[in-house]
Amino acid sequence: MLEDENRLWYRDAIFYEIPVRSYYDSNRDGIGDFLGLTQKLDYIKSIGIDCIWLLPFYKSPLKDDGYDISDFYSILPEYGTIEDFDLFLEEAHRRKIRVIADLVLNHVSDQHPWFIEARKSRNNPKRDWFVWSDTMDRYKDARIIFIDTERSNWTWDQNTGQYYWHRFYSHQPDLNYDNPEVREEIKKVIRFWLSRGLDGFRCDAVPYLFEREGTNCENLPETHAFFKEIRRMVDDEFPGTVLLAEANQWPTEAKKYFGNEDEFHMAFNFPLMPRIFIALAKEDSYPIQNIIKQTVPVPPTCDWGVFLRNHDELTLEMVTDEERDIMFSEYAKLPKMRLNLGIRRRLSPLVDADRYILELLHGLIMALPGSPIFYYGDEINMGDNIFLGDRNGVRTPMQWSFDRNAGFSAADPEMLYAPVITNANYHYEFLNVEAQSRLPSSFLNWFRKAVSVRKKNSLVLGRGDIEFLETGNRKVLAFLRSYDSEKMLCIFNLSRDPTNAQLDLRKYAGWTPEESFSRVPFPKIGELPYFFTMPRHSFFWMNLSPPGDGN
Ligand code: NOJ
Ligand code: CA
Repeated sequence: MLEDENRLWYRDAIFYEIPVRSYYDSNRDGIGDFLGLTQKLDYIKSIGIDCIWLLPFYKSPLKDDGYDISDFYSILPEYGTIEDFDLFLEEAHRRKIRVIADLVLNHVSDQHPWFIEARKSRNNPKRDWFVWSDTMDRYKDARIIFIDTERSNWTWDQNTGQYYWHRFYSHQPDLNYDNPEVREEIKKVIRFWLSRGLDGFRCDAVPYLFEREGTNCENLPETHAFFKEIRRMVDDEFPGTVLLAEANQWPTEAKKYFGNEDEFHMAFNFPLMPRIFIALAKEDSYPIQNIIKQTVPVPPTCDWGVFLRNHDELTLEMVTDEERDIMFSEYAKLPKMRLNLGIRRRLSPLVDADRYILELLHGLIMALPGSPIFYYGDEINMGDNIFLGDRNGVRTPMQWSFDRNAGFSAADPEMLYAPVITNANYHYEFLNVEAQSRLPSSFLNWFRKAVSVRKKNSLVLGRGDIEFLETGNRKVLAFLRSYDSEKMLCIFNLSRDPTNAQLDLRKYAGWTPEESFSRVPFPKIGELPYFFTMPRHSFFWMNLSPPGDGN
């Protein structure tokens, strides 16, 4: 673990999500690996990342990209050895980059020896590590998550004549958390990886650990109690460990995972993410204001992880039917773009690679409360491939250069785990790290700059309060972030047309705004409405300095 005086580092940090498989292949087998990832740490540092989130890298038949684990204690051989992992961690820490890893604790692969044992006979000692039933009638109120592939949360086991329970794919049997042996084993897994030096976990699928009849089997008190127990354990044995919850829930339920500062340190702000896209589609600031008001404040040692995209489909489970219709009609015009209740596209294609919108969205996600979590490749506006199955279209090789295989691998192209993107609008020959690094006006260089400005203001943007300001124009979102005497005014034109807004800033009469990227001073605030003229899809971040502060 990286030692730091700043106990709340995660509130100020920039996170970056990486699938080892997709990042860099060091041994020409067409699959990314830990040694490859280690070689790219300087790049990761250069874009300002404070913490890497590694997708599952454990032994797995890879039917759900590693979220189907067959051995919690070993690394998928294609990704390298445990020594390669240790070296990676050491090199990341040497660069002051932290690393958290996925902890998949709700389920295992049906290839896991525990499940292979459990399905041998009804009285096998591992039988009770899973959830069995004679009928499919139990837990009827639990929804099905992977609706495109699964018809039920129960699957028949021919050999022992009972059904087993699974919230995700039928090849991912849920562990039975009512069994104390299971709980102890998962603690062992946690200890194993933390003692190797990890800085924390992104905990997968946290709402679903326990099942109870007559409930929807999500967010149960037993589940919260178990995570509180985990929190106590890591606080005692590995102080400084950070736990981040993947709980795709409505705001009131999502917030509960912070507990009373005794459960998770962080949780993804799932409610916010789709509402950003809805606000953009409707050119209306209300959906963002409304959801932020429902999700803040959070307890002082906790924070949201805010994100635009990740390795899954853009999930639309926790929005109204009307909101989902807007999302599908605006962002998923072809049926192939949809998956389950979501949209399987990367950020740039979602917004037609529109540079103005991409900057606007990044400006938003770095200014709203929470720590930004970026998805690999989005810093160069990588494209996707909706013709690859499942969510694989957003998991293609990272585009490093215009060399063979986008510089990702020196293997023969047909050996790659997935083809590189060659669509004319997103072709790796021009859309790659090397080309964008050389071009001062590239998105990558803009991203680096934006991250560095965010970091200069990491206290006010990372920890500050938020106050929404009246703009007289619904298309414009404006808010003030405040942390002690530090203040930042952030204003966004969500519209496809130029517009203007008038802010009542009389409270700050005598203060001077300074545009945060350029440090260009703007006119001093007075008693009259403060007037902004804004090009389409544009934003300002402004530091406010008080009267007498050099002005
Ligand atoms: C959420 C993960 O993000 C997703 O990729 C996975 O398929 C499910 N959990 C099941 O583990
Ligand atoms: Ca490899």
